Amino acid sequence: MSDLKCGATSLDKPLDAAYWEAHYCAKTTGWDLGTVAPPIKMYIAKIVDKNSRILIPGCGNSYEAEYLLKQGFTDITVIDIAPTPASILQEKYKKNAAIQIVLGDFFEHQGNYDLIIEQTFFCALPPTMRQKYVWKMHQLLADKGILAGLLFSRTFESGPPFGGNQEEYEMLFKDAFSFLEMGMTQNSIAPRANSELFFELRKNSTVFVNMYQSENIKCSTSSSDVTEKLFTIEGVLNVSRSSDFEEILIVSIAPIDSKTIKDALSNSKEN
Ligand SMILES: C[S@@+](CC[C@H](N)C(=O)[O-])C[C@H]1O[C@@H](n2cnc3c(N)ncnc32)[C@H](O)[C@@H]1O
Repeated sequence: MSDLKCGATSLDKPLDAAYWEAHYCAKTTGWDLGTVAPPIKMYIAKIVDKNSRILIPGCGNSYEAEYLLKQGFTDITVIDIAPTPASILQEKYKKNAAIQIVLGDFFEHQGNYDLIIEQTFFCALPPTMRQKYVWKMHQLLADKGILAGLLFSRTFESGPPFGGNQEEYEMLFKDAFSFLEMGMTQNSIAPRANSELFFELRKNSTVFVNMYQSENIKCSTSSSDVTEKLFTIEGVLNVSRSSDFEEILIVSIAPIDSKTIKDALSNSKEN
């Protein structure tokens, strides 16, 4: 880890396409279950609309997509930033119109989905990107769209994977999504037993979810002071600051312009 501004730390290596591609080339893909995770399989089996528009981000070898196709789903998109898994899938499904394979960055992806399936993508991202993950998921989902899948409920010495816990996830997704389910799984694969939770969140389409840069906030301003001040803006429901202090996720009932944010922050004890 190396020091960044405001005393935040960052990863030594960027977790970019080259990082993931190197793992696929070296076949050091310890995260790959070789099959669809049982809690996700169970969830898919309950989906009634086979024409749901489904996205699987950070898909890797995408056993979930294979299972969805077997079940007759007709509108699946998978995306990965690493060329190797994307090209394997492109070859495998080149004659199958029910699945689109995208090589690219999830955060640049545009689309409109009824369901997004999470399987070891969130935990593969630097924790500093968690607020951006919430923002992007909200943006990609259709009205009342669903984000569902697995999250780790444990910590790791170093990542990826990066862990977390239910309380942290609840704070992060609060108000941007409504919680249909979040709890420990009973049917994880043995090595992940008692360390995963299954979640199903519904997009809250009545709110605005935006990211703001915190570049004008002095390092001496504590995150709790920043958060407290932002909560004084009328209509703000949730505020979450990234762990490198660079960005702030704000959920509100009306759009909030940057001047309003600046004014609220200028009331901070030290801004
Ligand atoms: C831990 S692996 C999980 C792969 C697969 N979901 C699985 O469970 O086998 C994380 C995956 O996310 C991909 N990834 C990381 N950052 C990404 C990004 N910004 N956009 C798209 N894919 C990304 C990596 O290339 C890698 O395939």
